[in-house]
Order: sequence, then structure tokens, then C-alpha cells
Amino acid sequence: MYIVQIASECAPVIKAGGLGDVVYGLSRELEIRGHCVELILPKYDCMRYDHIWGLHEAYRNLSVPWYGGAITCSVECGWVHGRVCFFIEPHSQDNFFNRGCYYGCDDDNMRFAFFSKAALEFLLQSNKRPDVIHCHDWQTGLIPVMLHEMYKYYGMEYQRACYTIHNFKHQGMGGVETLQATGLNRPEYYFQYDKLRDNFNPFALNFMKAGIVYSNAVTTVSPNHAWEARTSEIGCGLGHTLHLHQDKFQGILNGIDYDFWNPEVDRYIPSNYNKDTFDKKFDNKKALQERLLLRQEDKPIVAYIGRLDNQKGVHLVHHAIYYALNKGAQFVLLGSATEPGINAQFQHEKQFLNNNPDVHLELGFNEELSHLIYAGADMIVVPSNFEPCGLTQMIGLKYGTVPIVRGVGGLVNTVFDRNYDENLPPEKRNGFVFYQSDNAALESAMGRAIDLWNYSPEEFRELAIQGMEYDYSWNIPGGEYVEIYDWIRHKW
Ligand code: ADP
Ligand code: GLC
Repeated sequence: MYIVQIASECAPVIKAGGLGDVVYGLSRELEIRGHCVELILPKYDCMRYDHIWGLHEAYRNLSVPWYGGAITCSVECGWVHGRVCFFIEPHSQDNFFNRGCYYGCDDDNMRFAFFSKAALEFLLQSNKRPDVIHCHDWQTGLIPVMLHEMYKYYGMEYQRACYTIHNFKHQGMGGVETLQATGLNRPEYYFQYDKLRDNFNPFALNFMKAGIVYSNAVTTVSPNHAWEARTSEIGCGLGHTLHLHQDKFQGILNGIDYDFWNPEVDRYIPSNYNKDTFDKKFDNKKALQERLLLRQEDKPIVAYIGRLDNQKGVHLVHHAIYYALNKGAQFVLLGSATEPGINAQFQHEKQFLNNNPDVHLELGFNEELSHLIYAGADMIVVPSNFEPCGLTQMIGLKYGTVPIVRGVGGLVNTVFDRNYDENLPPEKRNGFVFYQSDNAALESAMGRAIDLWNYSPEEFRELAIQGMEYDYSWNIPGGEYVEIYDWIRHKW
């Protein structure tokens, strides 16, 4: 099959979070299975060019219709760790992707509406006719609409769209101007509730809803989250739409790329190990303590790695730091906050804890350091408010770093409580789970984990090794996506 992935991120060249990991990892798995995969991405000024090999011009003067005129783009092609990627760069005064950031601009909706349009024009004009166009998140939600309502008539009638939702919280809104810009010319037709009109704001059109309505198949990134999104407020207003389209909607658990996230081959950590050489993990713990200037004592290290925002349960992250210190553990945080208030709060915390040799807060994005933390810490805490899938707990498991998670979204599908999971025999359990989003619940799970480390180190080690035995690679989800692609190719 010939599959084109269109997204706003692809790790490690463009990565703000798990979306980048997934776009890369899924593409790699599909290639291993013998499919031809190409990726289309924006060419951001701030992406990591050191991860692109052989960047060269692929298409000169791509003319993209926009507001009745046109914007010229260049398209460059390069290999990102073996994957063929096309990077679109518009030559417009708006400088859509030369902003020093991936997201967070006032005109994000227009930036990605343009990217979506340009990606389709690129396929059209360069005569690429993939069997499946796989789009990701709100940024590409307009692609299935344009494919169905316009590009079908320009010679792309056999292309099928699969749409994956990674985060319902960010849906992308537009208005009449989005329709004018992209050439979807009949506002009264698109501003219907069964099409693009937002379920709550009658004056807005919703990119994510557009993706759901117009795609041939829709997925989200874990089975539990698919259920939550359809049946509760976690769908952020799209539950009803999902319900109407439930025949083509399902949850597929993300995988992890074990070539990149694997303590056996990880080149960012000083001592490689696997479950048979688990004791070497301790060298990484020492290296982590040294690097972050932590007290070199044999105490449990609890880690948090992730964005610092409401979704991730920042109030509980904050509490976890002090609870760990009170219990005599060490705490390492690697987090990036985009909201100024949250950033200021953690900057303040960092200052306050500056002289404490048992804690280190690292604010910002640091891929290399994240690997050392996964390898060096004993436990990783994921206290999310909601979590469509979550990768950090799965990476933690692979590195023998025991997850302590809140039982929501994909965390429910991947972490099984050592003491209380009655569906699994004890030798299959792999972490600690709590349910209420409050300090007491967090403490009960963290307390059990830290106590086990302190008082039954052998059992803690066993639990960590049981976690390493789980296979959360792309093997199974890769096969599930191929089944979906086959289904939409033959059904429609
Ligand atoms: P989300 O996509 O919601 O941010 P995920 O758990 O799916 O959360 O994925 C987060 C990914 O981003 C993981 O690969 C994690 O290691 C990485 N990550 C998150 N924050 C940072 C950071 N500050 N520095 C380095 N890597 C980070
Ligand atoms: C999103 C979600 C996260 C998921 C990731 C990759 O950003 O917040 O739970 O793992 O996308 O699908």
C-alpha cells in the first residue's frame, strides 16, 4: 500500500510531545511491513535540522490557491532516520512557519489550514496518488473535507482518509474566512451541524469535527479513551459527533519505537541494560545523580517527564515533589510549560528548592536528558487529569522504571496495579494506579511504591522487570492500522 502521513510533528526532527513520536513510529512500522510511506510536514525554522539527511529541493514553485490568489511554496525532501519526509515552506509575508515555535501563534488556525491545503496541492501537482492519506489532530482536520469536496473532482477520487485524534482538548476553530481562504466556497453548506459547525459555538467551524465527519475512518490513541471521548465530557463537546460516526471510530493503543526507546541500545545513556542485566540500571542512576548534582545516596528517585499543563495534572505533579521529599525519596522533573502562569509557578518552585540536594527541576525541552532520566529513575509519576494514550508510562516500563499513574485514558490500558488489579495474576502487574485526582489518592499510590522500594527491594526489582517484559512496540498497533487502511480502501 502507498500511505502518506500528514502531520504537524515527526520525531525527532519536530517534536513537542507524543504526536511526533507516534507519527514517526507508526510510519517506520508500516515500512517494516512492506508499505511505501511518505510524510508531509511544515518546514519550521526551529525544527532540528541535524536529524534530517540529504535535504534537497523536491518541487519548485508549488502554487497553492489561497483567498482567491495563490501563495508559492517550495517543497524540500529529506530523510529523517530513514523516513522520506517532504517539508513545505510557503513564501508568504505571513511567514507561517518561521516563527521560532511550532504552535502558540494567534493565527495557528490559518497556519495549519494553509498547510493542509498546501499538502493536498503538493500531492495533486506532483501526481502522487496514495491509497491512504493519514491525517493527525486538528491541524490537518480540513484535509478530509477538501479531499472529499474538492480534490476528488480534480483526479483524487480514489484517495481515502484516515484521521487520528491525539488530543480532543485542541480542536481548531475557524470562521467564514477559513472557507474563503481554502476555497470551500459555500459557507451556508459547511456551516451545518452535521458538517463543520461547532457543536457549541454556532459562529465557528471546528477543524476536528470536520476531520471526524469527512474521514473514512477515525481513530483515537487508546481503546479506553475512545470510550471516554464518546461517553463523557472528555470528548470536549465532540461526544455526540463521535456517537453519530461510531461505525468508523475506534481506539488503537499507540506503540513505542523500541529502536529509539530501548535501554539495550540507547545511545544517550552511559550504561546499556536489559532485564537480564538489570543491575546496570544503577550506573545510570549514579550518572543521573551526578549530572543533576543530586546527593549521591541510595534513595529511590521519582521522576516526572512531560508538558506542564492542566491535562497533566500539574497540581498533583507539584504535590508529588513535596510528598517524595517527605518520604525520603529524590525527585527529578523535566517539564515544559507553555502557559505563563504555570511556568512562573515552577520557576518559583525551582528557586525555592534550589539548595535541596534531593530534588532537581529542569524546565524546558531536552530529549537527551529525558533518556537519562527514564534510565536512571526508579519510578515515574503520571498523574494526568486526562490522557488519550500517554507514552511516558510505556517508555518508563521499557526502562524498568515503575509507573505510578492515575487511572484515566490510555493509562488504564497500559498500567496494572501491583496490589489491586484483580484481572491479572500478580506476575503480570507492572505499576501503581490511583483514581481520584487529589493529593490523598496520589499519596496512597506513591506511598506504596516508595515503601516497596525501601522495605522489599527484591519485590520492587521484580515488579520493574515484569514491566520490562511488556511489549508495547508498534507491532500490534501497526497491524491494526493496516487493517483499517484495507477496510477503507475496499469499503468505500
Ligand atoms: P503528550 O503528547 O500529551 O505531551 P505523551 O506522554 O504522549 O504526552 O508524550 C510525551 C513525549 O514527549 C514523550 O516522548 C516524552 O518523553 C516527551 N517529553 C515531554 N516533555 C519533555 C521535555 N520537557 N523534554 C524532553 N522530552 C519531553
Ligand atoms: C497527545 C496525548 C497523549 C498521546 C499523544 C500521542 O498529545 O496527550 O496522551 O500519547 O498525543 O498520541
